[in-house]
Amino acid sequence: MSGSRNALAEKLAARIEREGPILFSEFMEAALYDPAHGYYSAARRAQAEPTGIAGDYFTATQLQPVFGRLMRAAAEEMRARLGLPETCTLADWGAGRALMAEAFSGFRYIAVEAHTPLPKPFEGIVFANELFDALPVDVVCGGRKGMRLQRVAWSEGRFVRVDGEPPEGEWKEYAERLARAFGELDDWEIELPVRMRAVLGAIHASLRRGALLVIDYGYTEREIVRFPRGTLMSYRRHQASEDVLRDPGGRDITAHVPFTHLMECAAAQGWKAAPLESLAALLLRAGERDSFASALAAEREEEAQRLRLQLKTLLFGMGETFRCLRLEKEG
Ligand SMILES: C[S@@+](CC[C@H](N)C(=O)[O-])C[C@H]1O[C@@H](n2cnc3c(N)ncnc32)[C@H](O)[C@@H]1O
Repeated sequence: MSGSRNALAEKLAARIEREGPILFSEFMEAALYDPAHGYYSAARRAQAEPTGIAGDYFTATQLQPVFGRLMRAAAEEMRARLGLPETCTLADWGAGRALMAEAFSGFRYIAVEAHTPLPKPFEGIVFANELFDALPVDVVCGGRKGMRLQRVAWSEGRFVRVDGEPPEGEWKEYAERLARAFGELDDWEIELPVRMRAVLGAIHASLRRGALLVIDYGYTEREIVRFPRGTLMSYRRHQASEDVLRDPGGRDITAHVPFTHLMECAAAQGWKAAPLESLAALLLRAGERDSFASALAAEREEEAQRLRLQLKTLLFGMGETFRCLRLEKEG
């Protein structure tokens, strides 16, 4: 629940007054991607820096050059294994500020964003770092009284959550399946990844032949038991908050990625999946060929120290939290 007065809040409040309470996914879509005021809109991006020290949160892509060098090694290994041409495309899907552009300069690098048209079909590699955690989700709450989708209402100058209709069809089954982990618990919450299949399908349609590397934080179906209150979080100036309805457009909103569902969507679309692994495992494989010598190459000791710290943050700070899913598409 939250007091909110900004241009997007006014627009959403007016919409809710006209149409009634909106689905959480509609609220999240507007908060992140409203063309004029959304957190990730092109207009806002021009003035603000969502990531980095001055921004709201960190991603691995800011740990340059070490993350870039190791991901380049991983991408080169995939290119060789799949027999892709040297000059194949590397599409950074959900590229944000395109901080990987230099690392992938040996490829034909393209940045794909929420507001850009889909690229023409290409052969190569798609890199998706923290793309899927930024997709709008619906929310279902449940317990002894049954399940209800969550809607967002506007009441006394604030956005508030209200119970909506019960979920139906595929999403009813999905919620029932995952909620089994919560047993008799009377007040659980699960996010429904309602946009995931379409985004994966868009990548599938653009990639004629090659691989998709997904890096994100999330859980498998067996691990959902750790999140009985769901995983939605909001970030502003490095402060995490569970109040995702506050200040729409001014804060990031994320949900952990349900990897089991992502793998099921991938299988249905014909992707071939490698086993899910930790980011640490991928980084270790990418660096072990020369014992991290090229990843840590530096001209001065000061720089060498900085790079060693980056590697430590990647391996021990993010390495076990983040997961990697490698999907391949045969031509
Ligand atoms: C959390 S940011 C990650 C940015 C960057 N990859 C990084 O690691 O710093 C998520 C990005 O995905 C983009 N995005 C969201 N939906 C998308 C879509 N359907 N297609 C392409 N990009 C999308 C957002 O605009 C945002 O820039």
